[in-house]
Amino acid sequence: MEKTTSHDLTVLGCGLMGSALARALASGGKAVAVWNRTHHRAAALADDAITPMRQIDDAVHAAPLVLVCLATYDVALATLDPVSSLTGTTLVNVGSGSPAEVESFAVWAGGRGAEYLDGSILGYPEEIGTEGAAILYSGSETTWAEHGESLTLLTPVSVWVSQDVKIASVLNVGLVGMFLIPAVSAYVEASTFMLGQGVDQGLLEALTPAAFTSIQSETARVATAIAGGDFTTDQATIATYAQGLAEAIDTMKETGLTPRVFFGAIENLNAAVDAGLGDLGFAAQTKIIATG
Ligand SMILES: NC(=O)c1ccc[n+]([C@@H]2O[C@H](COP(=O)([O-])OP(=O)(O)OC[C@H]3O[C@@H](n4cnc5c(N)ncnc54)[C@H](OP(=O)(O)O)[C@@H]3O)[C@@H](O)[C@H]2O)c1
Repeated sequence: MEKTTSHDLTVLGCGLMGSALARALASGGKAVAVWNRTHHRAAALADDAITPMRQIDDAVHAAPLVLVCLATYDVALATLDPVSSLTGTTLVNVGSGSPAEVESFAVWAGGRGAEYLDGSILGYPEEIGTEGAAILYSGSETTWAEHGESLTLLTPVSVWVSQDVKIASVLNVGLVGMFLIPAVSAYVEASTFMLGQGVDQGLLEALTPAAFTSIQSETARVATAIAGGDFTTDQATIATYAQGLAEAIDTMKETGLTPRVFFGAIENLNAAVDAGLGDLGFAAQTKIIATG
């Protein structure tokens, strides 16, 4: 059912990220309604294209497309539950949540008569509106087809990734939470060691991309091996990696540093060697990760 609306989009949540989203939509020529629990943050956004609203009901009913950018999924549920009707509304929750939270939010939204897309933002508020941010969406492809053009105002790198509503969150949790954060933490440990040993900062910065090249080819091999089930290698075995990492940990300890990120990695590698997987490629660790 179509609802009669005064604005193109509504943004619920005018925190750091929600404010950036509202501004980018307004810059893109959209009429935007905004709401925030503490009204002054919504009021601060007021201009010709952005209308702050005091009542959540008025904000939700102001536009057919409602972006939710609140601290958590629980906050989003508690905020939207009292709204009188969500029929005719498309909700897009771009807050960060686990795949399980996304799935139950989608069921809840459907039960309230709303269309639903889930969004995961990879980027900072200052990157919204630029190619620096990527936003992944999952859920109904028809809903994406209807609203994708408006959502692409938030960043040219706006990608619908799957009909399965949890996939944007799975990618966010996997790529950022499980991969990027531990990888950058390892880089902090490694840089502490290298710079402490007298390596020139400029030299370190110039040579770091060489490691990215190896990471790129190894991660491609990992994805192919896990998906295809072939863990043989003609490049480097788990045993070789285990030995290399053990040497790195010893070196860090000898220099008086306290490595922590490495311990999970060496535990995985050693467990794989103990399980008889030492002659296989890096990705064969998936077997002990999957079985414990
Ligand atoms: N900032 C980033 O770089 C970034 C990047 C990717 C994803 N995200 C995600 O975007 C979402 C918002 O992040 P943010 O950086 O904008 O955080 P923020 O600046 O702390 O804003 C949090 C928002 O949630 C609202 N809120 C918190 N508790 C509430 C409650 N109990 N009831 C109603 N509203 C409540 C706040 O309202 P009040 O102003 O009234 O407190 C505010 O609008 C989060 O899920 C975050 O993980 C952020």
